[in-house]
Amino acid sequence: MKFIVYGVRKDEEGYAHNWSKENKIDVKLVADLLNKETVKLAKGYDAIIAYQQLPYDKEIFTTMKEYGIKDLSIRNVGVDNIPTDAAKANGVRITNVPSYSPSAIAELAITGLMQLLRRTPEFNEKLAKGDFTWEPDIARELHTMTVGVVGTGRIGRAGINIYKGFGAKVIGYDVFRNPELEAEGMYVDTLDELYAQADVITLHVPAVKENHHMINKDSIAKMKDGVIIINTARGELIESKDLLAGYKSGKIAGAVLDVYENEVGIFNSDFTGKKVPDATLVELMKQRDILVTPHVAFYTETAVRNMVDVALDSAKSMIEKGESRNEVKF
Ligand code: COI
Repeated sequence: MKFIVYGVRKDEEGYAHNWSKENKIDVKLVADLLNKETVKLAKGYDAIIAYQQLPYDKEIFTTMKEYGIKDLSIRNVGVDNIPTDAAKANGVRITNVPSYSPSAIAELAITGLMQLLRRTPEFNEKLAKGDFTWEPDIARELHTMTVGVVGTGRIGRAGINIYKGFGAKVIGYDVFRNPELEAEGMYVDTLDELYAQADVITLHVPAVKENHHMINKDSIAKMKDGVIIINTARGELIESKDLLAGYKSGKIAGAVLDVYENEVGIFNSDFTGKKVPDATLVELMKQRDILVTPHVAFYTETAVRNMVDVALDSAKSMIEKGESRNEVKF
């Protein structure tokens, strides 16, 4: 058995080498992303392991069929960039890593939130000028606030536990309810109720079409004045221009954005000394209390190791047993 792994970063190499040694399976690592050209490197391999944000070309799957490769194991959770029809039509089954580290994502969300509540951007800005005064940047304490968690899957629940630890009131919304949270009476019935009650809104839902731009001028109008919005899920959930307008009007007090709707090709690229090719993103980044990070919530040692190990384990299971608990059923 031999596997080929695409889009490998330096920080993943050691984990892949160790897995290969422990499992006695040849693993070829390539830095190239998977596309209709580079898929040709996969001839003779049994499974493809990949991670990328760019869309996977449809032609990849016809070539995989031609080479008799029936498994694509991705090292991340989101499958929104995979043309699933092409995968299905060519008999390629997909596995993902549904839970590489929910805490990694939840912890980054809370890091940003605490910065905003304790006004660190304001103090950093003042200190840089030599201003050591306190006023007017008085903080808010999280335990006095209501946090609205949209999406109570693994990541949402990791966040809920942290918010509860801080003593905050937590309310949740999800179309698929978790029985334990239901028993605690945590759910509200509609997003409008959540918008009306929450001081902080944190998004943990996938980018399915029903959620596209769910945060927009209409939903923002239903929120409390001074709301803080956190998005560590998918950029497409937020209409960025409306968020910006809501912030500039004072309705939104701040935002924590680890994702952005047009991030592909910008995040994880270096534009030092060059123009960032997205005016809205540049404008968002200029706002003191809009904290932008380049989709790094997942980027922890624990998460990266799990992404590599679990994707390779899943590929092995698909080839050896014809099944994996991480197969994505479309
Ligand atoms: C995912 O797992 O789908 C993510 O969003 C993280 C990715 C950037 C590795």
